[in-house]
Amino acid sequence: MMKNLTRVPASLKKLYAVAKKARRNAHVPHSGCQVGAAIRLANGKVYPGCNVENASYGGTVCAERGALQTAVCAEGKIKVKEILVVTDASPPWMPCGLCRQVISEFVADAPGGDIAIYSTNLKGEMLATTFAKLYPGLFSPAELKAAQRKKKR
Ligand code: THU
Repeated sequence: MMKNLTRVPASLKKLYAVAKKARRNAHVPHSGCQVGAAIRLANGKVYPGCNVENASYGGTVCAERGALQTAVCAEGKIKVKEILVVTDASPPWMPCGLCRQVISEFVADAPGGDIAIYSTNLKGEMLATTFAKLYPGLFSPAELKAAQRKKKR
């Protein structure tokens, strides 16, 4: 993973700035780890997210999920093109397992059937990957539908 560390390119300047701004609002009384995210849709719109923790740790909402929630709330059906995450960690953090599952919900509607994932930090370092690489063999809504069809028989 470390060998793919690059710099945030100029093409991601807007996404990076939006994520950094959201990160400053993170509610992190328990971990102290502020995380920001920004997603860009196929229509060009950008939505921010930050992590919001609570004393029942498992109920924490990560920055990535926060951004997706905001976008769905604003637009309904969305086509997610890119997701950028920013922390002050080096190497930068990749989306957690639960976020990967939530992101998977939007993959079928994504342009080209995949979503670009950029993990960055405040130093401008970046790990770039795609959703398909991050979550091979995913549990998908298609499997759920197949199981439901079987039940009905
Ligand atoms: N967190 C995120 O917001 N996104 C990630 O991809 C990984 C972890 C948050 C959850 C928690 O508030 C803090 O970072 C420490 O795990």
